[in-house]
Amino acid sequence: MSANQNIKPLTTRINENGNLEISGCDLTELAGTFSTPLYVLDEVTLRTICNDYKEAFKRYPETRLLFASKSLCTLATSRIFSQEGFGFDVVSDGEMFTVNHAGVNMKTVLFNGNNKSIDELTLALELGIGRISVDNFLELSLLNELALKEGKTADILLRITPGIECHTHEYIQTGHLDSKFGFDLTQIDSAIELIKDEYKSLNIKGLHAHIGSQIFETKVYKDEVDILFEQMIRINKKFALNIDELNLGGGLGVKYTDADHPPSTFEIADIIINALEENIKKYGTKPPVIYLEPGRSIVCTAGVTLYTIGSSKQVPHGTKYVSVDGGMADNPRPSMYQAKYTARIANKPDAAPLETVTIAGRYCESGDILIKDISLPHPEEGDILCVYDTGAYNYSMSSNYNRVPKPAMVLVNNGSADIIIERETLQDLIRNDRIPKRLGET
Ligand code: LLP
Repeated sequence: MSANQNIKPLTTRINENGNLEISGCDLTELAGTFSTPLYVLDEVTLRTICNDYKEAFKRYPETRLLFASKSLCTLATSRIFSQEGFGFDVVSDGEMFTVNHAGVNMKTVLFNGNNKSIDELTLALELGIGRISVDNFLELSLLNELALKEGKTADILLRITPGIECHTHEYIQTGHLDSKFGFDLTQIDSAIELIKDEYKSLNIKGLHAHIGSQIFETKVYKDEVDILFEQMIRINKKFALNIDELNLGGGLGVKYTDADHPPSTFEIADIIINALEENIKKYGTKPPVIYLEPGRSIVCTAGVTLYTIGSSKQVPHGTKYVSVDGGMADNPRPSMYQAKYTARIANKPDAAPLETVTIAGRYCESGDILIKDISLPHPEEGDILCVYDTGAYNYSMSSNYNRVPKPAMVLVNNGSADIIIERETLQDLIRNDRIPKRLGET
C-alpha cells in the first residue's frame, strides 16, 4: 500500500467537534481563517509518498527520482521535495526559475518540452541544469549553437516515442505513434549521427520516454524498459557510444474515487526493477541509471480544496444544483477531462447521505460542473465542501477566468497551517494591465 492508493490525505480524521480535520487542522476553521476557495496541502502525506518512492526503489541504487513540477510548482513544495532528495523535471522558464529560487541544486534538474525557446535553453545553460531532454531536430541544432557560444557542453537525453500508448486501464503498442513529443523510433539514428558528427557541444547521456498519465497498468512499464533498453544497446553498438541513462517518465495513477484502483509505488518499482535486471542479464551490461518523473502520484492525494456552499437550484423533476464559490478556474479537470472527484461536507462529514446533488462551479459556463451526482448530507448555504485529490494539476492549471483571483494555498502539519501561496487580490488582477495614453485619463 502506498499513499497514492488513498482518496484522502493520510492525516484526515473527524475531530471532537465532528468536523473533518487534516494534520490536526480543522478544515472548517481553516476556511474561516483563510477564506475559500482554499487549497490545503498535507505535508505528512507529501513526505510519506516521497518515502514510499524511495523505499520502493531502494534495491536499485542507480535510481534518480525527479518530481514533475508541472503537477504543482511552488517555492515551498519545491523545498520539500528537494529536502526529500528528489530532483526536478521542469518544462518552462517559470518552473526552472521557481525551483532555482527555492534553493534546489540545479544539477538535479532535467528540462523537458517539445518547443523550448532560445531564452529558455539559454537560461537552462546559465543555471547549469543537469540534463536537457532534447525533443526534436531543431532543438538539437539550437542547443548545440547556444552551448558552443557559451563555451559549454550540454548533457542531454534524447526524448523518444517508444510506441506505447496508455489509456487509464488499457494500452496499445504500435511501431510508431502519432505524438507531438520526441523522436519517432525511425528518427533516432539520424539524431545520433548528428550529435556524433556535427553537434560537438552536445553530450548524449541516454534516452527519455513518457508513456502517459494516471496509469493503472503495470506491465506497460516493463514494455517501456524493454524498448528503451533495447534501443540503448543498439545505439551503443552501432555508434560505438556508451550511453547509460534511461528516463522512464512519470504516470503512476491515483485514487480519485472508489472506482479507481491504482497500483502502489512498490508494485511499479518491482515491475521496473525486474525488467531492468532481466535486461542487464540478457545484454550483459552494467545497470543503467534510471530516472523517474512522477508528479500526480506525489502530490494529488496530499491536496484538498475547500469551498463554501452558496445557492442551490432544484430543477423541477430534475437535477439539484448546489453551487460553490470556485470551480473550473481553480480546477479545470472536470470540464477538460470529465475527471471525477470525491467530496465531503467538512462541517458534517459523518451525517447520513441524504441527497444526490450536482456540485456546480461559479463560473459563467454551463460546463462548469465540479461533481455530477454526488450523495451528500443535505448541503446548506455556508457549509464547507472538501473536495479530495486536488493536489495535482489543479493549482498548476488554474486560471483567472471571469477575472476571479486565484485561491490561496496552505500547508498543514501537526496543527499548524502556513500560507504557501497568498490569495490573489483584485489589485493583482490589474497589475499588468495598461491603458494606452490615447484612450484618455480617467
Ligand atoms: N514526465 C513527462 C515528460 C510528462 O509529460 C509528465 C506529464 C510527467 C512526467 C508527469 O506525469 P504524472 O506522474 O503526473 O502522471 N493535466 C493532466 C495531466 C497531464 C500530464 C502531462 N505530462 C491532468 O490533469 O490529468
